[in-house]
Amino acid sequence: MIQSRLPRARVVSTGRFNPPRIVTNHELESLVDTNDEWIRTRTGIRERRIADKDVHAADMAAAAGRIAMERAGITAEGLDMILLSTATPDRLLPSTACDVQALLGARNAAAYDYATACSGFLYGLSMAEAHIASGQAETVLVCATEKMSSIVDWTDRTTCVLFGDGAGAAVVQKATDERGIMSTFMKSDGTLAELLWRPGGGSRIPLDIAVLDERSHYVKMAGPEVFKSAVRAMCEAAETAMARAGVTSDDIDLLVPHQANIRIIEATAKYARMPMEKVYVNVDRFGNMSSASIPVALDEACELGRIQPGSLVLMVAFGAGFTWAANVVRF
Ligand code: ACO
Repeated sequence: MIQSRLPRARVVSTGRFNPPRIVTNHELESLVDTNDEWIRTRTGIRERRIADKDVHAADMAAAAGRIAMERAGITAEGLDMILLSTATPDRLLPSTACDVQALLGARNAAAYDYATACSGFLYGLSMAEAHIASGQAETVLVCATEKMSSIVDWTDRTTCVLFGDGAGAAVVQKATDERGIMSTFMKSDGTLAELLWRPGGGSRIPLDIAVLDERSHYVKMAGPEVFKSAVRAMCEAAETAMARAGVTSDDIDLLVPHQANIRIIEATAKYARMPMEKVYVNVDRFGNMSSASIPVALDEACELGRIQPGSLVLMVAFGAGFTWAANVVRF
């Protein structure tokens, strides 16, 4: 299926927030039995940002959102909708999106959270496109915000070295020319949920002493299995999104992949026949910020001039669920 049509929605602007506190691999050596060399060679990560205790997922999303809105030249009253991806909501009820709405003063907006983990920003762009196409909204703020430091087990070396905190946001509006979302591919597989999950602390196993003792409210991941699924799924997503847009890797100016592991990024780029010079990488500086990884990378790439007006960008993601997605966007 080729989605050969003019785009319905476009990314007008982006913004990001990364907490200033840098935690290096060396610092983690004092917490768990790990070392800089293992982390660098197995993941590509050198350091990550960790938010202070009083900086929350909503604060980071609002900070990123304000920058995106300013660049788009819109005020908070001009937002019709706030869509927010997070695996680390500030609380279970109500949504973090509503907190962001309050922080921004976006009194005309509808706001809601959704949970598709690392694929969240790409799912959000697709939802924004659908709301715009259906006439529900004209201006949508898509936020992805993660305080991963609050859900990792700082005694588990197989996970705590991988993640970081941050947020990204994008203003999405109706497309008026050939710039915009040219194609989207999204898929999920709930049968593999237990390979990457937080077993306790939800309504199935409510938080109690046993959950705390077992530390089952923290992220658990079967790393090597997730690795294999991630490579397979991201390759499928990249290929399908390009085919649906009717483009090949030669047409793509920049690949912006989810930043979980440099080896996953390199494998995806190789399969998509994209030289690494055409791939944006910041996993070395931020680690895996789950759904915030792609919008932070996108925003940096725009700021550095690696994405120019007219650039064709392929984004591809994989995360817990499992969920995976890719899209081709003309900026
Ligand atoms: N420091 C030192 N040694 C370690 C560490 C560490 N931090 N962590 C694990 N090890 C050890 C293991 O115990 C193991 O030792 P053993 O051989 O004696 O048993 C050895 O290193 C190898 O461990 P593996 O897990 O096989 O290492 P691998 O090369 O697979 O790398 C990693 C692990 C980095 C987690 C990788 O599997 C990965 O990146 N997986 C995918 C992550 C991902 O994409 N997640 C999806 C998105 S995240 C989201 O949705 C929230």
